[in-house]
Amino acid sequence: MPQHYGDYQHEIYFDGLFGVLPTQPMTFAELETRARAALPPSLWSYVAGGAGDESTQEANAAAFRTWGLVPRMMVGAAQRDLFGLKLPSPLFMAPVGVIGLCAQDGHGDLATARAAARTGVPMIASTLTVDPMEDVAAEFGDTPGFFQLYTPTDRDLAESLVRRAEAAGFKGIVVTLDTWITGWRPRDLATGNFPQLRGHALANYTSDPVFRARLAKSPEEDPRAAVLEWVGVFGKPLVWDDLAWLRSLTDLPILLKGICHPEDVRRARDGGVDGIYCSNHGGRQANGGLPALDALPDVVAAADGLPVLFDSGVRSGADVVKALALGATAVGVGRPYAYGLALGGTDGIVHVLRALLAEADLIMAVDGYPTLADLRTEGSLRTVRA
Ligand code: FNR
Repeated sequence: MPQHYGDYQHEIYFDGLFGVLPTQPMTFAELETRARAALPPSLWSYVAGGAGDESTQEANAAAFRTWGLVPRMMVGAAQRDLFGLKLPSPLFMAPVGVIGLCAQDGHGDLATARAAARTGVPMIASTLTVDPMEDVAAEFGDTPGFFQLYTPTDRDLAESLVRRAEAAGFKGIVVTLDTWITGWRPRDLATGNFPQLRGHALANYTSDPVFRARLAKSPEEDPRAAVLEWVGVFGKPLVWDDLAWLRSLTDLPILLKGICHPEDVRRARDGGVDGIYCSNHGGRQANGGLPALDALPDVVAAADGLPVLFDSGVRSGADVVKALALGATAVGVGRPYAYGLALGGTDGIVHVLRALLAEADLIMAVDGYPTLADLRTEGSLRTVRA
């Protein structure tokens, strides 16, 4: 990666001097349009869609437009320090189950891990992958990776997944709290499509000894029975009393994903977690909710120094900068890299990540915020008048 992320634009302009135009989209709108054409319709609906009439999903992105950066002077990029890990940027790839299917070759988890290796942007690998977590982790190179846990109802299975993540070299466990049950998703309902029920993205289960021991016949012999077993075991409705048990499973850092209320932040802190992940699942789980960005300042205040990861609605480098200015320690994207993958495989993801970082870097340069600390000073953001 270049010294300054903004240097990516030089590569593109220099190619232009020799008559070579970029093959990848330069705006989110074009990325979205082209990904739609590149993906099978039901998969497109699954990835692009959200809960209800998708007003929360739209509000997530719109919330960024209510904030504006106040220009100052001077420039810089910054090193991030998350759980003692030095990362080259504050960007990360949010867990996307079925990312495997978004690649034209059906191995999008591996392609995403390779993009992490090439960019230094960490991948949080979902529990729902096409390739087992061990194979995904093997592609990370020097970039740290995180494992996202959908906590199964079977505690032994949960423990087995966490042990495997530790053994595979993941650097932290992200426990997603808002998806023990699937939200009401009209687009998927209209296409009658729920990929996991069709046996997709269940490799971490079918490769797990505890899961396999629950089956009368192996998943290879009776795949349908394996899917039905998965339905029964997938989602544990966690309560705060479960946190001590989760904490006891591993010495790796634990983050709780889906937290938007300061009181929940305090309970998580009291329970000994290492990080808070503020997100409303990109509006996929519950419609009618607050944009995640609006929840961020109170979450950051309650976290009281604990790292706060953020996602939901980030579509540009400007959005990344605003989330950082509102106190996020690191900022995640979901759909944007899924679309990049659909269009260009690993290269497509690398382009999306580099473009986000370049725009963020150049905004910090132009607007004079040399470091993330400068960005986080009082008064760097003002609300935009309607
Ligand atoms: C997700 N998300 C998600 N989250 C999670 O914890 N585990 C998962 O397996 C998935 N799966 C998933 C699939 C698809 C298709 C999407 C789009 C999203 C949510 C994801 O981590 C993140 O919270 C949102 O995608 C962020 O919002 P944006 O960037 O998509 O607006």
